[in-house]
Amino acid sequence: MSTKESPVRPKPGVSSLGRLLPFARPYVWQFIAVIALVIVFNTSSVMQPYLVKVAIDNDISTNHPNMHGLVVIAAIYVGVVVIGVAANYMQIMVLQRAGQSVIRSIRLALFRHIERQAMRFFDSRPIGTLVANVSNDTETVSQFFTNFFLSLIRDGLSIVMIVFAMFRLDPRIACYAMILVPIIAGVSAAFRGQLRRRYQRTRTLLSSMIAFLAENLAGMRLTQIFHQEKRQRAAFERLDAQYRDANITEYFTSMWFNRTLELLGNVAVSAVVFIGGNAVLHDAIKFGTLYAFIRYIQQFFQPINAMTQQWNTLQSAVVAADRIGQILQHEPEIQDKAETARVDLDAIQGRVEFEHVTFGYKPDQPVLRDISFTVEPGQFIGVVGATGAGKSSVMGLLTRFYEPQEGIITLDRIPIWDYSQRDLHALIGIVQQDVSLFTGTVRDNIRLFREEIPDEVVREAARVVGADGVIERLIHGFDTQLYGKGSNLSAGERQLISFARIVALNPKVLILDEATASLDSHTEALVQKGLQAVTENRTTLVIAHRLSTIRHADQILVFDKGRLVERGTHAELVAQGGLYAKLDAESGIESRVIS
Ligand SMILES: Nc1ncnc2c1ncn2[C@@H]1O[C@H](COP(=O)(O)OP(=O)(O)O)[C@@H](O)[C@H]1O
Ligand SMILES: [Mg+2]
Repeated sequence: MSTKESPVRPKPGVSSLGRLLPFARPYVWQFIAVIALVIVFNTSSVMQPYLVKVAIDNDISTNHPNMHGLVVIAAIYVGVVVIGVAANYMQIMVLQRAGQSVIRSIRLALFRHIERQAMRFFDSRPIGTLVANVSNDTETVSQFFTNFFLSLIRDGLSIVMIVFAMFRLDPRIACYAMILVPIIAGVSAAFRGQLRRRYQRTRTLLSSMIAFLAENLAGMRLTQIFHQEKRQRAAFERLDAQYRDANITEYFTSMWFNRTLELLGNVAVSAVVFIGGNAVLHDAIKFGTLYAFIRYIQQFFQPINAMTQQWNTLQSAVVAADRIGQILQHEPEIQDKAETARVDLDAIQGRVEFEHVTFGYKPDQPVLRDISFTVEPGQFIGVVGATGAGKSSVMGLLTRFYEPQEGIITLDRIPIWDYSQRDLHALIGIVQQDVSLFTGTVRDNIRLFREEIPDEVVREAARVVGADGVIERLIHGFDTQLYGKGSNLSAGERQLISFARIVALNPKVLILDEATASLDSHTEALVQKGLQAVTENRTTLVIAHRLSTIRHADQILVFDKGRLVERGTHAELVAQGGLYAKLDAESGIESRVIS
C-alpha cells in the first residue's frame, strides 16, 4: 500500500520511531525512574561477585580466617541481592505500565485517525492491512518501548560496569578479557543479518495472516455462496505453513546464535581459569579475584546476547513504526473547515441543490458530469438509472463521503462543506441495501448507542415503522444481542431496524439507496409501511430498484452514464417516451411476470 502512494519513498529509518516518541512524552518520568532502577539493579549484580571475592581473599583463604567478617559480608550480600531484586521488580512494573500506556495511546490515535479518513482512503486499502496495522504493528512497536528500551539501558550499562569492575580488579587479565570483544562482535555480526531477516519474515507473515483472516471472515458469506472455501482454505494453509516454517527457522537461527555465544562464553571461562589460575599459582593475584573474574566473564556474555536480540526488535519496530506513521501522517482528505457554519439543526428545512457537479473517483475519469437539480423541502424524489449510472455516487457526494471536482452542493442554500461533518451527518441519513448493524442490542442499534435517546423514543420509532411486532418476537425483544452486522436477523428485520433508526435519529434529509432491493416482494410489502413512515415530513431521495416504489414521487431523476438525462413526474416522463418510459415498460413486464 505504501509503495503505491509514492514509489520513491526512502527506506524506513530510525526517524520513523522518533516520530512516535511524542506518544512517550507523558511518561517521561516513568522512563527516567526505570533508568534509575536499572542502575540500582546493575550495581547490585556487579557487586555480588566482588563481595564474594572480598570474603574469599580477606576472610577465608588467608592466614587469619575471620568468622565475624564473613558474617558481615554475607549480610551485606543478602542486602544487595534483596535491593537488586526489588529494583528489578519495580523496574518491570513501571516500564511495562509506561510502555503499554504509550502503545495504547498509539493504538487509539491510529483508530481515531482511521475513523476520520474519507472513503477514498478505504477504497485504496484492504481492510485486513488496516487491521494488521492496528493490531500487529502496534504490538511490534510496543517491543521497542519495553524490551528494546530496557535492553539498551540495562545491558549497555551492564557491559560498561562489568568492564569497569574487571579493570579495577586486575588490568592485565581484564585486557585479556577484552580480546573477547572483537570475537563476540564478529559472531554477532555474522548472525545479525540472518537473525534480522528471519525475524522480519515471521512478523510480515503474521501480519499477512491477520490481514487474510480479517478479510476472509468479513467476506464469509461471499466465500460460501460461491464455494470458495477450498480455494481460501488452500490460501490460508499456504500462509500458515510459511508462518510455521518461518517461526521454526527463526527459532533455529536464534538457537544457533545463542548456543554459539554460550560456547564462546565457556571457552572464555576456561581461558580465564587457565590464565588466572596460573597467576594465582604464581601469587600474582588472589584466589578471590579469579573467582570474581570468572563470574564477570559469565555475566559479560548475557547482555551482549540480549542486545543482539534486541537489534531485531529495533529493525521490526522501525518498519512497523513507519507503517503506523504513514497512516498517522495521512491527513483526512475531507475535513471540517476551520470556521464551520453555525446552524440551528432544528431550523434546517431540507432543501438540497446540486449545481453543475462533476465528479470522478479518479479525477480524470468522471462518473458524474455536470449534474444540476433541486429538491424542495419535504419532497419525495425518485432516482433511477441502470447499474453504474452514478446514482450511488450522487448520494456519496451529498453525504460528503467524496468531494466533487467541480460544482456546488448545498443544503438549505449553504454549501455542504460549510457544515461540520457532525452536523451534516446528523442532518442527512442514509439507508443502503446492505444494512449495517453494530454488535450490540437492538435498542443500541436503533438509537446508535446514544444513551440520551430515551427508551420511549426507541419504542415509538420501532412502532412507527412497524418494526415493533418483529422486535418483540425476538428472544429478548429490544435487548436482543446482535452479532456480526446483524446476521442473526433476516434481511427484512434488519431493514426495519434501520428504518426505526432513521425515525429515532430524525434526519432532515433521507437517502434510501436501493434500500429494499435485497428483499423479496413479500418482505418488501412488509417493510412498505415502514418506508412510508420514514419518508414522511422529510426530504427523501429514493434510489429505486423497483419503479413501483417511486411512481408517486414529486420528481423523478433519470441518470444515464453519469448524466442526468430526464426529470419530471411519472406521468410526464412516460409521456416523454424517453429512457424512463422504456424502463417503465420493462419493469411492467417484469412485475406481471412475477405476479
Ligand atoms: N469507490 C469507488 N471507486 C471507484 N469507482 C467507483 C466507486 N464506486 C463506484 N464507482 C464507479 O462509479 C460508477 C458509478 O457507480 P455508482 O454510482 O455506484 O452507480 P449506481 O449506484 O448507479 O449503480 C461506476 O462505473 C462504478 O464502477
Ligand atoms: Mg448504487
